[in-house]
Amino acid sequence: MSMSASTELDEIRIIEQGVPPTRFARGWHCLGLARDYKDGKPHSVEAFGTKLVVFADSMGDIKILDAYCRHMGGDLSQGVIKGDAVACPFHDWRWDGNGKCADIPYARRVPPLARTRRWLAMEKDELIFVWHDPEGNPPAPDVTISEIRTPDAEWTEWEWKALEIDTNCREIIDNVVDMAHFYYVHYGMPTYFKNVFEGHVAIQEQRGESREDVVKWDDPEIPRLLGNRSVAAYHGPSFMTDDLVYIYDRYEVESMLINCHYPVGPDKFVLMYGISIKKTEQVPAEIAEQLMEAMIGYIGIGFEQDAEIWKNKTRIENPLLCEEDGPVYQLRRWYEQFCVDVADVTPEMVQRSEFELDTSRPVEAWKAEVAANLARQAGEEERV
Ligand code: FES
Ligand SMILES: [Fe+2]
Repeated sequence: MSMSASTELDEIRIIEQGVPPTRFARGWHCLGLARDYKDGKPHSVEAFGTKLVVFADSMGDIKILDAYCRHMGGDLSQGVIKGDAVACPFHDWRWDGNGKCADIPYARRVPPLARTRRWLAMEKDELIFVWHDPEGNPPAPDVTISEIRTPDAEWTEWEWKALEIDTNCREIIDNVVDMAHFYYVHYGMPTYFKNVFEGHVAIQEQRGESREDVVKWDDPEIPRLLGNRSVAAYHGPSFMTDDLVYIYDRYEVESMLINCHYPVGPDKFVLMYGISIKKTEQVPAEIAEQLMEAMIGYIGIGFEQDAEIWKNKTRIENPLLCEEDGPVYQLRRWYEQFCVDVADVTPEMVQRSEFELDTSRPVEAWKAEVAANLARQAGEEERV
């Protein structure tokens, strides 16, 4: 047998699975609605491979500490708020928002080194964020979350949902560039698709049409959804805002969609999404509330569709791409900036780059498929 004989194995693509990293991304991570944390109780948040306690002090300022008490390991999130401190349920040690033990009611003095880890918290546009940095530094001044929506009466209250997903959170990041899955998984049809990466922001600009073979409409009383326009941007590794306009046959609905997550561990993350709709003359408060219910419903279905794929797929470091796929490798290089020390961030990770996909071939193929599906469905109806 000659050494140069090639086997079938030389010609097939081998998947490099890699391993989910145990280091979590540096950045602001949204923990949900501020109001949910301001009920006078400590809250437990499992994140970044540990457990946090989130509570509001007497001024209503959100404080975040390690949940595990430095005394004997009690869980502060099971304790109670006493004044500005969270009291451990095990022996009542009181931990203030700076992570200092302020009082031990049964002790003559507090040990001078009684300090626990405090996490930087930020409240912005009714949402709570926690800063995570494996190097232990505060955020650079330019690393922030930009204004989310005009905080006035024009917009409906956030409708907010959370779900746990049993996979590494890079899967949801990949979505940013994955044009084709919107057709196959989410029953949409992107007709325009562009990504821009710059600094800590990654943008996905998209226009799409509804798939008539899937999204049925037979009641002329009900507004018919024709498609959407969306400009979505990740601000850092985990928080995406989406200016999303739904185009109906009789009006357009402006909405703000938040899609964010925080890692629980290497193989688990909490996915959260929220929506708020702009009230207009055509979309007064009552209709806006109804539309929001419907939207949160199908956005939820959308994430469940993704989750079903993630549950069964493998991690893949070397995706095999065709020309009509988005820039997965560039996206991952952008994401890498959050996973290395600040000193190791390279210019390639943060430089501006733009990728507009040519959607002409996909749209041609998809329109033909939709037409064929519609014809088949019409045939099936006739036979009934
Ligand atoms: S373990 Fe928390 S007070 Fe003892
Ligand atoms: Fe998706």
